[in-house]
Amino acid sequence: MEIFDMREFDAHELIVFGDDAATGLRAVIALHSTALGPAAGGCRMWPYATMAEAVSDVLRLSRGMSYKNAIAGLPFGGGKSVIIGDPQKQKTPELFEAFGRFVDSLGGRYLTAEDVGTTTADMASVARATRYVAGLGRAPGEAGGDPAPKTALGVHLGIKAAVRFRLGRSDLEGLSVAIQGLGGVGSHLARMLADEGARLKVADVRAAAVRRVCDELGASAVAVEDVLAEDVDVLAPCALGAVLNEQSIPRLHARIVAGAANNQLAQGQDGQSLLAAGILYAPDYVINAGGIISVSREYRGGATDAQVLEDIGQIPLRLTEIFERARHENRTTNAVADEMARERLGRHRQKMVA
Ligand code: NAI
Repeated sequence: MEIFDMREFDAHELIVFGDDAATGLRAVIALHSTALGPAAGGCRMWPYATMAEAVSDVLRLSRGMSYKNAIAGLPFGGGKSVIIGDPQKQKTPELFEAFGRFVDSLGGRYLTAEDVGTTTADMASVARATRYVAGLGRAPGEAGGDPAPKTALGVHLGIKAAVRFRLGRSDLEGLSVAIQGLGGVGSHLARMLADEGARLKVADVRAAAVRRVCDELGASAVAVEDVLAEDVDVLAPCALGAVLNEQSIPRLHARIVAGAANNQLAQGQDGQSLLAAGILYAPDYVINAGGIISVSREYRGGATDAQVLEDIGQIPLRLTEIFERARHENRTTNAVADEMARERLGRHRQKMVA
């Protein structure tokens, strides 16, 4: 595997491989940039078919974290880790403790938390071996804990900013929103949107999650293969990356795409196709920063939940600035966001188009 030649390699500062035979841990940590502080970003557990797939994911995700943290104004660089394994079958506290030792070996250059496939409970195991972890349980009123509800809040506020900008409306009453993925973020987002009168169409590969949201919130279930193409005001991808691509974009009917999933655009040029189709795209790493904002406050210590909510309240302002700049310069929102992030990172050159 020629890592330096990989499309996703973008002058990453460090990539380390961890192997612990006793617990079966196989993990990769990538630090994209520590220019703004220690590299912060979650730990994903996923049954990658090949090592190349895992490396490609961690390179892409860690770079995304650099951009996300920079745009959110956090004193952190960008990093990410992946554990190769099936989160349904291969999790043990010992495995996460071994992962904690791996994180600790970097001496604080990398700070971890939960991500897809990992939970607050897993991070408690990590914390037995390192202090460079956040997203743990916390006392009422204290900053931190599970980042997913905070991410959902940021996405909710971001959707409202996009609706105001694109549709000229300040409320969500009667607006239709399709949500792809009803996990930690999507399920919280569904509740917040329903509370404001939005009409929801939802899809998930887990039938039970769909049933619960339909029963509790009066949402309509749609097929997994159809959700992206629903004729709705807003499409909120909250499951997988690369869902906005050459095949899916011509099928979209939404006027706004604003959701939590990381790396929604398969390639940077897909942003251009969205612009040409008149679809307003809320750049993923700007709208989904609520979780890392919470993790960052928790890690630095001494903060309250109210301060986290105040910080998350900046997300719609940042998005509106990007929307306005993009419209003024007739550019894509993702290009404008990338440029703002690179300016803050002191990296003016962009190697990867994604
Ligand atoms: P999660 O793993 O709890 O939920 C993902 C959901 O998507 C699951 O319910 C899964 O069954 C569903 N799903 C998987 N494949 C699907 C498909 N083809 N069609 C429809 N549904 C499908 O993950 P979580 O935490 O809710 O995150 C969602 C997305 O947001 C991920 O892309 C994640 O990287 C991103 N994100 C999450 C943050 C957080 O704080 N949890 C922070 C920033 C980004």
